[in-house]
This record gives sequence, C-alpha cells and structure tokens, in this order.
Amino acid sequence: MATFNLTINGTSKQVDVDPSTPVLWVLRDHLDLVGTKFGCGIAQCGACTIHLDGNAVRSCQLPVSAAEGASITTIEGLSENGDHPVQKAWMEHDVPQCGYCQAGQIMTAAALLQQNPNPSEEDIENAMNGNICRCGTYLRIKAAVKTAAQ
Ligand code: FES
Repeated sequence: MATFNLTINGTSKQVDVDPSTPVLWVLRDHLDLVGTKFGCGIAQCGACTIHLDGNAVRSCQLPVSAAEGASITTIEGLSENGDHPVQKAWMEHDVPQCGYCQAGQIMTAAALLQQNPNPSEEDIENAMNGNICRCGTYLRIKAAVKTAAQ
C-alpha cells in the first residue's frame, strides 16, 4: 500500500492503495465515481476510457502510480451539467441503447474533438475504432461526433 495524490475532475484526492491498482478501480471503488465502466479489463473495449492530461486513455490498464501528478477527467467531470458539446450531440442523436459503453465513447469523442476540432470521416473512424458497442450504435456515434464538431 502507498498513498497517492491525484487530481480528478479538478479536485485533489488522496487514496491509499497498492501502486499497481488500475485507476479504474480507484475511481469506482475508492472515490465512488462509477460512471467509468469495466468491460474487458485488458484495454480492448474502451468502456473505461478517461482523460489523462487531455488524452483518452484506458483506465483499466493504467496503474495509479502512473497517474500521480497528471490531470484526470472522468465522465462526471467532463461538464458541469451534461452540456459538453459531445454530450449534447449524444442526446440529439439519441445514441445509447443499453448505455454501458457510452461514457467511454463520449470520453474518446471529446478527446478527439479537443485535439482535432474538424475531424474527417476517417479521423472519426480511426479515433472511435477501439471503443466497442455490443448494441451496435456505431452509426449514431459517428453522426453525433460530426454534430459535436460543427
Ligand atoms: Fe478497459 Fe475494456 S475495461 S478497455
């Protein structure tokens, strides 16, 4: 066990955990931030995507020891009232079906648009490619990303 000082959604948090603990479980089990989901645990599905210094990363494979000093943003901290352009576009296009993967999808899309405000069709496909949706909402996801980029 060790003590880690984390910056999450603009707030300082201190946790006592094993250094190898994935950030996903720190968020969910220690900080009650359960919007970030567990899907595969092996960095293959994207359900656990968060932002680390503005970059989309998979928190299931990110040890807490590697996150100290960085700025972490989760779906809970993406906007004040769910009014991030990506979240608004998601509602406009009624994207989710079961909803389980959507926090990760939104975090990936938000990071894409932060880094590339005018993505091409190919840019969107490349960025969203690794986020799996078992309901197959991919067409609505792509449409919503395009709307958010406008
Ligand atoms: Fe992290 Fe699937 S739970 S990528």
